[in-house]
Formats: sequence, C-alpha cells, structure tokens
Amino acid sequence: MSAQVRKAVFPAGGLGTRFLPATKVIPKEMLALVDKPIIQYGVEEAIASGIEQIIIITGRGKGAMEDHFDHSFELDATLERRGKSELLAVSRGVANMASISYVRQKEPLGLGHAVLCAKELVGDEPFAVILPDDVIDAEVPCLRQMMNVFNERGGSVLATQTVEGPAISAYGVLAGSPDPVDERIYNCTGMVEKPKFEDAPSKQAIIGRYVLTPRIFELLEQTTPGAGGEIQLTDGIKALLKEEKVFGYTFEGKRYDAGDKFGMLQATVEFALKRPDLGPQFRAYLKALQL
Ligand code: G1P
Repeated sequence: MSAQVRKAVFPAGGLGTRFLPATKVIPKEMLALVDKPIIQYGVEEAIASGIEQIIIITGRGKGAMEDHFDHSFELDATLERRGKSELLAVSRGVANMASISYVRQKEPLGLGHAVLCAKELVGDEPFAVILPDDVIDAEVPCLRQMMNVFNERGGSVLATQTVEGPAISAYGVLAGSPDPVDERIYNCTGMVEKPKFEDAPSKQAIIGRYVLTPRIFELLEQTTPGAGGEIQLTDGIKALLKEEKVFGYTFEGKRYDAGDKFGMLQATVEFALKRPDLGPQFRAYLKALQL
C-alpha cells in the first residue's frame, strides 16, 4: 500500500461527560487550551503533516465546531471596522485553515462506529484518525512521523506510549515485540481494548493517532460491541492484523490527555509557559505561589 495519506478523520461525537457541567452546552472539543479550542490543535497538526482534507464526525449539539471553522461575518466586519487587523487575521485564519467535511454520528455506538461513519468520504485510500482529546506537542508533528513510517513500512501505524502500572487499563494495549531495526517501531501480533492490569499484554498503550488502510471499514462493519458495550476501533484493527501488518510507533513528543481534568490542567500550564506573550508573566506568577 503506497498511496498517499490525504485525509484525516476526527471522531468528535462523544458527550464529554468527564467535563460536566462545562460540556452541557459546549462540545468538549471546543474547550479552550489557553486560547484555542482543543480540536484546533489536532487540525493544525494534521495540516502541518500534509493532510488535505479533514473529516469531523459530529453529533447532536456539536454545531459550535462547524461555526468555529467557518467565517464569522459579524465578528470579522466588526474587527475590520475597528482596525483590529491582527485579530481579524486570527479569525479569518481559522476559517481558511482547511477543507473540512462533517458527518453526523447519529448514535454514540463507539469509536469504531465513529470511524466507520467516514467510510464514504474517505473511500478506498489510506487515511489518518486523530482523537482530538489527545493533544501532542512535538517538533515534527506526530501524524507526520507516523505517515513517514507508513510510507516506509506499508502497513497501518498506531501511535503508542509506554504506560506503567494499572493506568494501562484506560487504553488499547498492544501485544507483540519491538522491531529489531527501529526501536521506535513495535511489531503487533494482537491488541486488546482496556484490559485489566493483570491481563495487559504489554506496556504499549495506544494513543489517539492512527494511520489505517481502507480495509478497516469492511472489518468495522463486521465488528460487534466489545469493551463498554461499544464498537471498538481496537477490535477492528485486531481483525485487520490477521490480514495486514500493523505497527505501533513510539512518537517523539509529549502527549496530554485534554479529555481529562488533570491532563487539561497540565497542558494548560505547560502550553501557557511556552507562549512568548504569556510565559514570562505566568512563570513569575507560579513562582510567587511558593507551593
Ligand atoms: C480511545 C481508544 C483507546 C486508546 C485511547 C487513547 O479510548 O479506544 O484504544 O488507547 O482512545 O486516548 P478512550 O480514551 O476514548 O476511552
């Protein structure tokens, strides 16, 4: 499989119950990390990786995402009238950022089902999946690193990270062995979604970035509900593994779980400290707290 990866699917139909009450009206993907909605970090990563088309899987009450990546006539006209050219460029930049299509996931049947909703728009070509909750700070965008592995190895690629202890139970976990040539690559022989700690086949946890071949769609159509009673992407990829090579890839960079309150706080502090306009003041403030 040597076709180019041109499309990225963003499953964003979930209810975001971990952030209630903030997410009662606002989609969790629209919660701000410093001053940008978390989904925008993923979209920017995809574009920086060379992706040409973004497909967002949405659900009921998630319209704010569509408005965000669209022109806001009133806002732009007001900023223009007031001579706020820098802010106008920010607003227009978001609207012009990417070619984005939206598909409604009508029922919350699981991540595998959400990805399956993109079948018609992706068609018969390899594609990426980005879980917007996982925000990754990296010099070379994480998805770009994975697309390079896909191009070299010609099989699906899953981002992974080593997770110690019982925390592994929150993830899809790979079985297999490290590649003898490239220590960042893990040759998969199996995988299991959210295993009990004692049943986890390794410490290699799947992180929310995937490059997949289109065969996954047919396999997801046959996938029955698994962990949590949901149609799991991990189970679809496990079936793919019987037919094609699948690799884990330890990406270079730092991942934050922005779908979790503590992870969001960590990301907020570290991203704010890195910002030239906020960092020095914020650092001085944190030091003054004398924790
Ligand atoms: C999903 C996947 C899981 C993966 C995780 C990464 O789980 O099902 O395999 O390890 O994302 O963030 P979720 O966090 O949506 O429960």
